[in-house]
Amino acid sequence: MSSASDPVEPAPPVELGDVPPEAWSGVHRGPLRAGEWIRLVDAKGRKHNFALTPGKRFFSNRGHLEHDELIGCEEGFTVQSSGGAEYLVFRPLLSEFVVSMPRGAAVVYPKDAAQIVALADVFPGARVVEAGVGSGALTCSLLRAVGPYGRVSSFERREEFAEVARRNVDQFFGVPEGAAHPSWTLTLGDLAEALPASGERADRIILDMLAPWECLGAAADALVPGGIVCAYVATTTQLSRFVETVRVHGGFTEPHAWESLVRDWHVEGLAVRPGHKMIGHTAFLVTARRLAPGARPPRRTRRPAPGAYGVDYTGPRPADVAHEGPEVELDAPASSTGPDGDATES
Ligand SMILES: C[S@@+](CC[C@H](N)C(=O)[O-])C[C@H]1O[C@@H](n2cnc3c(N)ncnc32)[C@H](O)[C@@H]1O
Repeated sequence: MSSASDPVEPAPPVELGDVPPEAWSGVHRGPLRAGEWIRLVDAKGRKHNFALTPGKRFFSNRGHLEHDELIGCEEGFTVQSSGGAEYLVFRPLLSEFVVSMPRGAAVVYPKDAAQIVALADVFPGARVVEAGVGSGALTCSLLRAVGPYGRVSSFERREEFAEVARRNVDQFFGVPEGAAHPSWTLTLGDLAEALPASGERADRIILDMLAPWECLGAAADALVPGGIVCAYVATTTQLSRFVETVRVHGGFTEPHAWESLVRDWHVEGLAVRPGHKMIGHTAFLVTARRLAPGARPPRRTRRPAPGAYGVDYTGPRPADVAHEGPEVELDAPASSTGPDGDATES
């Protein structure tokens, strides 16, 4: 029998081996191999990403490095170029890959992708619809979150963006030439028409586009009861238009709108303070849950702030809001004089 005072023999470290390919994580463990993408970071924080290719050289203004020197090493080491510059060598993380990959359209930033996955509750096994696919940044996070038992159906109306997205997704997940990620479909077309035509049902629908309100009807028809619609919009006029359209539709819970701001901290000895720069506004997020067919949300007990829907308001008008302004069509274009954040509920 051993006692607390006996010396404890450390257990030999367990070798983990590579991440199982059937997990489709886009991540490898173990020695760097030919064909993999790596990221070099120099002393000034400058980044260089490239695919390891036998016989090739990486050139910088401080000399060169042979790719063959890196192939076969465990990541997380420092290497020196022929000119004496030092570089840290790692495999890129997903959050690093999406901000350095080729872009067709603006991407969903990692801080927002994290919010979407967590607060739109994207779960393993989920059926997720997203539009537009843009450069495929959010697609990578969604595919990771749904895992091998889920499905992401992406819709994009511009062929050139769809092509960029396909290349980026294939690169991140290491999809072999001529193959496809088994949990992903990419359809060319406008979501408002292509989604109803596909007959797809979804647990979650993520809209990252200029006019998400134009796709709300199609999204509502495809969502299962309890499902979530989530919109990512850059401006306050888009935010207002989308939220009011969700209310007018009537088949969703009260929409929740928010944004996230990320501030780094400088921590060095006694100098502990917020960083001077921060990732401030990127976009707003809105989520709402789909009600069961025929169900209506409870009447709102809080009245809108005085003037919120006054004479200057020309957007979609929820049924339970008294009309104080001119008649408008619900699908009229967004007003440039609409509420800019000051027309909130009290
Ligand atoms: C900002 S980008 C999306 C970026 C993408 N989420 C990412 O993380 O890389 C917006 C995309 O939506 C596409 N789009 C706009 N309206 C659409 C619609 N109704 N149906 C399908 N795609 C649409 C645009 O062509 C554009 O590529």
